Amino acid sequence: MEHLLPSPRVAVPASGYFTFSPGDLIAGPEPLTRAVRLALAVLDLREAAGNAVVQVVEDPALGSEAYTLEIAEDGIRIVAGGVAGAFYAAQTIRQLLPVDAYRSVRLPRAAWVVPCGRVEDGPAVPWRGVHLDVSRHFLPKREVLRMIDLMGVHKLNMLHLHLVDDQGWRVESRAYPRLHEIGSHRSRTTTSYYREDLAYDGIPHGGHYTLDDLSEISAYARERAVTVVPEIDVPGHASAILAAYPELGAKPGERYEVLDRWGISSAILSPLPATVNFLTTVFDEIIDALGVVPFFHIGGDECVLDDWAASEDIAAHQNDLGLATPGDLHAWFLRRLADVLADRGVRAVVWDEAFVSGRLREDTVVMPWRGMNVARRAVAAGHQVVLTPVFPLYFDYAEAGSAEEPLAIGEAITVSDVAGFAPVPEGWDAAERERVAGVQFQLWSERIPDARTLDYRAWPRGCAVAEIAWTGAPAQNPPAQDNPTQDTPAQDSLTQDIPTQGFAARLAAHLPRLDALGVEYRPLNGPRPWQRGGGWRAHRPGMLSVRDVTAHLDELTHAADSTRPSV
Ligand code: ACM
Repeated sequence: MEHLLPSPRVAVPASGYFTFSPGDLIAGPEPLTRAVRLALAVLDLREAAGNAVVQVVEDPALGSEAYTLEIAEDGIRIVAGGVAGAFYAAQTIRQLLPVDAYRSVRLPRAAWVVPCGRVEDGPAVPWRGVHLDVSRHFLPKREVLRMIDLMGVHKLNMLHLHLVDDQGWRVESRAYPRLHEIGSHRSRTTTSYYREDLAYDGIPHGGHYTLDDLSEISAYARERAVTVVPEIDVPGHASAILAAYPELGAKPGERYEVLDRWGISSAILSPLPATVNFLTTVFDEIIDALGVVPFFHIGGDECVLDDWAASEDIAAHQNDLGLATPGDLHAWFLRRLADVLADRGVRAVVWDEAFVSGRLREDTVVMPWRGMNVARRAVAAGHQVVLTPVFPLYFDYAEAGSAEEPLAIGEAITVSDVAGFAPVPEGWDAAERERVAGVQFQLWSERIPDARTLDYRAWPRGCAVAEIAWTGAPAQNPPAQDNPTQDTPAQDSLTQDIPTQGFAARLAAHLPRLDALGVEYRPLNGPRPWQRGGGWRAHRPGMLSVRDVTAHLDELTHAADSTRPSV
């Protein structure tokens, strides 16, 4: 029981073991037993009322994600607040089984025993998120489904899909087909790093999900207690949209291309009614495909408003609305889109620039990526926030400032940095803390070209997010800081000194589960030989420190608009 990750609220071990046998039965209300069978697919439990060794009971008073688990020598009893709670109880059982429970079939050699005891458990916060940037580098559907599986293993529950940016549009539109026909691919991608001469790989890149794929992803996620949060990032980051439909831009006659390099572009949608109508149609297509959409992210970050200021039509529109500045118009535009979503029963989510420019609906959720000061201001203004600060939750930063790392946007964010983050900030008063919906790690993909690199950047830092999000507090006894200058490459996480208690010990027990799942995570003491960066993909340490970026971004939040450091 001491090796559960995330740690449960209460775990009381008892003596003895329960042993699963082939053909074991499970009984209880169907949606809950189905969730248990899904999480424990390797056991192949059969549904039947009589003689069931796993009994599932529903008690909504617990809260939908909470559960209690009693394991005795003669059977297991789960009391769950809802389907999610039953799924999480089963994930806990899976962690108590031998590591082979994380393989995709039941190998004959495993002894299918779990220790007796009692667990009382539930999450501290309702939003335990993972953000995937599928725009900069497309992530095939199978990898999105696999991420959902891994989220289930870690009791993470919100999947934020960043579906468009300057470098690609990633979802079919039947109303505006040029979006996926033109906007979803580019002919090459830059290979150069900050201040280096521009160079390109010459390799086409692209891909998109069909609306049926989105329906599948959403249904697959729901079965695993995960909610998909789509993001259509507007009005900036608009090159891919404008490559398809330049008439939606703020500069008449301008031609745009899907960008093949990084940094902030000035391409911006016009805020005129035609754009609102276009986006309303696209939102409806995505909402219909996903089916259940409590939240829809509309971006609002890193907008260069020069083209708005230069346009007579847009200036006239601004005047008609009685707005003083393009910044006010930016705020109005996002508010207008949030109202469109509210008409559909959907809550808008925005990056913090949209909050700084003002006028949000109070029910809009803010993601304060530029730091905890702007987070606190958003909370003071009455918004719920999902904490997404660059430090320590932007996992496109390397774990170590070392040339051994694969090229990253900057450095360094370690597992311990993440484990030390307080998801419900200390020093905030009760009302402020109440407005923290949760935390989320970001996998911006400029420097994450494929699923293997994604594994490396996501885990085990994602395990630390799972821990702090579920418990609501910094982890006790995190692993020692990663050592970027080691001489000997990591061979196996188990060859390190194994800590005996706290998060470090639980993580050491957890990594073999990830091995069994086939996750190519970053070992705690550095990359395996084949995980090192090489050639142009070697990290160049010392170019961009995450601490400097954080300080710079915090300063920017005092102005109405901002920029992310460009490449
Ligand atoms: C962001 O990093 N531009 C949200």
